[in-house]
Amino acid sequence: MTEPLLHVAGLRGGYGGKPVLQGVDLAVQAGEIVAVIGRNGVGKTTLLRTLMGLLPASAGTVRLRGADLGRLAAHRRARLGIGYVPQGRDVFPRMTVEENLRVGERIRGGAAPEDYAAVYDLFPILRERRSQRAGTLSGGQQQQLAIGRVLVGRPDLILLDEPSEGIQPNIVQEIGRIAVSLNRRTGVTVVLVEQNLDLIRATAGRCYVMDKGRITAELAPDALADRATVRRHLAV
Ligand SMILES: Nc1ncnc2c1ncn2[C@@H]1O[C@H](COP(=O)(O)OP(=O)(O)O)[C@@H](O)[C@H]1O
Ligand SMILES: [Mg+2]
Repeated sequence: MTEPLLHVAGLRGGYGGKPVLQGVDLAVQAGEIVAVIGRNGVGKTTLLRTLMGLLPASAGTVRLRGADLGRLAAHRRARLGIGYVPQGRDVFPRMTVEENLRVGERIRGGAAPEDYAAVYDLFPILRERRSQRAGTLSGGQQQQLAIGRVLVGRPDLILLDEPSEGIQPNIVQEIGRIAVSLNRRTGVTVVLVEQNLDLIRATAGRCYVMDKGRITAELAPDALADRATVRRHLAV
């Protein structure tokens, strides 16, 4: 077995005195798309924020290509190739599409014109609206912008938090198709937090189930192929 791209062991953390993560263990190989599912409030967003270094871990390790990230700040993790697309998207509403993308460039520390072209090729609507303020875009377009903003930095690992939330089903499908084609073409690794059954099944090769701050099950491709099984775990 090769060294995982991302290896998380015994990870604990939360908010001030409120522990949320109760010892998370998971491993993701380079090139995988892995979903993390579980009902609201079990700690999925807290997990991604802790992996990104936006929240401190109180115990446990996060390894990227075998190297312990320790207490590295988020911008340092971004430089190492981790891109984070937050839940709720968080684009800058008063900045244009292109200005939002440039924020992604600064996060990684430099991008070439072809990095922008690649994002615009992936999301043609963003090219069309490049001079428009992000706040005037639809939810689905803002989601594409949030993903594009991370992609200009050419991450090796993307942490994607509920991209389907509040978005029309046809755009959800399109985002799923784009994620899969990007993964096949560039080998980018994706950790996807999701509740949308169709998006999970369309994108993820396997899936971790989270409950009360821990990983409680892992669904292999055959289990993932069975709608009823996945639905049961989404509703635990
Ligand atoms: N900023 C915060 N401060 C304190 N508690 C929080 C904060 N954000 C989330 N929580 C709590 O942490 C727990 C896990 O939340 P979260 O990670 O957002 O869950 P999920 O993404 O799985 O819905 C919940 O009990 C939630 O109320
Ligand atoms: Mg969440």
